[in-house]
Amino acid sequence: MTNNKILIIGGLGFIGFHLAKRLANQFEVFVIDALINYIPNNYNTWQYYVKYRQKILKDLNVTFYIEDVQQASFKSLLTTLRPDIVINAASMPVALLADINPKHAKNDIFDAHFNVLESIRTSSITLERYVYLSSSMVYGNFFRDEQGNILPASENQECLPIDTYGAFKLANEILVKQYGFRYKIPYVIIRPSAVYGPTDCNLRVTEIFLHQGFQEGTIKLDNGGQHKLDFTYIDDLVDGIMAALISPNALNQVFNISYGVGRKISELAQIVKNLFPSVKIVTNDCIPFRPNRGAMNIDKAKQLLSYNPSFSLEKGMQQYCEFVKQHIKNYSL
Ligand SMILES: NC(=O)c1ccc[n+]([C@@H]2O[C@H](COP(=O)([O-])OP(=O)(O)OC[C@H]3O[C@@H](n4cnc5c(N)ncnc54)[C@H](O)[C@@H]3O)[C@@H](O)[C@H]2O)c1
Repeated sequence: MTNNKILIIGGLGFIGFHLAKRLANQFEVFVIDALINYIPNNYNTWQYYVKYRQKILKDLNVTFYIEDVQQASFKSLLTTLRPDIVINAASMPVALLADINPKHAKNDIFDAHFNVLESIRTSSITLERYVYLSSSMVYGNFFRDEQGNILPASENQECLPIDTYGAFKLANEILVKQYGFRYKIPYVIIRPSAVYGPTDCNLRVTEIFLHQGFQEGTIKLDNGGQHKLDFTYIDDLVDGIMAALISPNALNQVFNISYGVGRKISELAQIVKNLFPSVKIVTNDCIPFRPNRGAMNIDKAKQLLSYNPSFSLEKGMQQYCEFVKQHIKNYSL
């Protein structure tokens, strides 16, 4: 594999940035990003971290283009750059937003991705790998055993998404496989879950709770915080994607890449309280609108990619907290 040039779509977003930062040591990395802020009421944080990401990547000699992949110019850029690998880490990453505005979700998640695949297909470039970041939301409600315990979701089980976000992510996976089959575009599909860590600014539960800690505020637990998530520290996810980029075992495969343990939201709240003893925790009985999830089964990634995640939620939140401590004075919440 020559793979000397890597193009990251959405490379100024949370996951794309961390990938670009790590890959820049080994490859020539290019980034395309439309700089979309999905959460207007977190604008100050987003603006600060987007500038921070740009500075870090500039220092690492990563070239970035502020551009929307839905524009016709994307194909010209692709033809000019001639990447060996394209990683697609772009699109609306928040399930609630997709439910609130399904038309916007279709445009942002599906149409943009379709344009990327079509641009690749109709250009003269030959890719060694197309990496698509999907989501654990493609599974919908995780299956349960006879005792009602949630079973870890495996890549080969049926995907039954229950919301707009999961449905479009699954549609995109099918499209990737079809382009792989019909047009011989080699691919890898990655399904991450509840990723957290430095510079995240899409108001996920980890960021919200941590900021409550810094503000000595109140953490609110819907449904008593009983819902489980497979929280994944960004460095573990990047390790998994790096392995999937280069391993021959990963060719045309789908991988769950997560920590592999389901943790209750109430446990996350307690971890934050251990870091900030003055934070208050209150519970309510609001029914969660998200699918019932828990751990994903990561055996396939362990076996085929030697993936070995190392960040427990305690360790990851401690590290994330240290980072935020250094930066929070620079933006107002
Ligand atoms: N963060 C998570 O917990 C998580 C979990 C599962 C899957 N994912 C998936 O990973 C991907 C990245 O998520 P993230 O958390 O880094 O989100 P993010 O919002 O931080 O980053 C996405 C980036 O993509 C860019 N973008 C969006 N549409 C674009 C377009 N048309 N052209 C160019 N750039 C565009 C945005 O400007 C943004 O910088 C998403 O596809 C998301 O669905 C994320």
